[in-house]
Amino acid sequence: MDKFVIQGGQPLVGEILIGGAKNSALPALAACLLTKEQVTLQRIPRVRDIRTMEKLLMYTGATVSVTGTQVNVRAENLEKAEAPYDLVKTMRASSLVLGPLVARTGRARVSMPGGCAIGARPVNLHVSALEKLGAEIRLEEGYISAEAPSGLKGAHVVFDRITVTGTEDILMAATLAQGETLIENAAREPEVQDLAALLIKMGARIEGVGTSTIRVQGVSELHGTRHAIIPDRIEAGTFLIAGAMTQGELTLQGCAPEHLDALIAKMRQAGATIESGPQSIRVTASGKMRSVDITTEEYPGFATDLQAQFMAMLTEAAGIGFVTETIFENRFMHAPELARMGANIRVEGRQAIVAGVPRLTGAQVIASDLRASASLVLAALVAKGETIIDRVYHIDRGYEKIEAKLAQAGARIRRVS
Ligand code: EPU
Repeated sequence: MDKFVIQGGQPLVGEILIGGAKNSALPALAACLLTKEQVTLQRIPRVRDIRTMEKLLMYTGATVSVTGTQVNVRAENLEKAEAPYDLVKTMRASSLVLGPLVARTGRARVSMPGGCAIGARPVNLHVSALEKLGAEIRLEEGYISAEAPSGLKGAHVVFDRITVTGTEDILMAATLAQGETLIENAAREPEVQDLAALLIKMGARIEGVGTSTIRVQGVSELHGTRHAIIPDRIEAGTFLIAGAMTQGELTLQGCAPEHLDALIAKMRQAGATIESGPQSIRVTASGKMRSVDITTEEYPGFATDLQAQFMAMLTEAAGIGFVTETIFENRFMHAPELARMGANIRVEGRQAIVAGVPRLTGAQVIASDLRASASLVLAALVAKGETIIDRVYHIDRGYEKIEAKLAQAGARIRRVS
């Protein structure tokens, strides 16, 4: 198992190029199942979750060819409308194939994802929305079996709570349903908007994208297209925080600053100087950050996927910061690991109280999930001495060559097997 060995204390200086968004690429790949024709996706990050999704598409009978960050998918004949446990257990986003498979083939069998480090993460909202569209669903032997032999039918779906992949799953299913589907309390994340942009290019009729009410007029078939995925706002946000906490001068290229408004506002409040261009962000910080409070929310609020990294920054900030997590019930796994590096964090239910310390110290720590691992990398960049982070396969699920990108900006980080 790979580890990262990091020597802290080096400011990040220079430029980093941001890749395509993992959480946009995953539903985009699943959407390729909706048509017999070839779909070409560009700027697909080469991370582990994407490879898992590609395997899943191939398992169903689609052909997938990868050239650099371009992926061609042709799902002409779908032999198996199924997502087996072995693939689903490593990536919960596999449930994204449920909607497309049942819409295209009239049936789907998708292994139920178990819980994961950040919470129980059920898929009940995906299931009940598909039932509204007329799918008959049975839960058996750990699988969700959905059947709609005479096709899905448009319906009025009101999500009990906002769900990103749930909205995406139903949006995809609704494109091929008969008649109109109205989705209320829909997620407004840029990744949902990007998926809708792709579906519209494929011939789908969708209105209200980016609002919490999405209207879809079903069509009888979709066609092939080309689409470039949006930049990864979480990768960009992670490096933005890293640039500020190391008191560096870092420019992120190829990103979408408009997707990072909530983070940028908090970073400025904490004392960072941030200038954004059309596709770039420059962050500088000449002194210690000041503590500020954050509460995670659905988009356009502060992203839960940046909470751990922001907490890493607060560990050395001046003052006390309150971090409130409202999206997932157990997303503070990084707190005890940060504490091993000298951080002063008290977790009380959904809130973590972080009192800044003068300096973290290097230690041996363990990555527990994707974003928690990123927070440990950031903490290691400012800690005194050496930090060894174990189980970095978690970080490889969602960050493309993170060690190479950081090293290019001056970080002393290496991967050891
Ligand atoms: N929820 C339910 N029932 C459902 C679906 C969700 O109770 O059927 C709950 C969840 O347990 C959670 C909340 O609703 O408490 C919101 O979850 P959501 O469904 O929005 O999360 P997700 O779609 O499973 C996506 C991202 C996550 C990101 C969340 C929140 C992808 C592939 N994953 O997950 O990304 O944290 O939205 O923004 O898009 C990551 O990249 O590290 C990551 C975890």
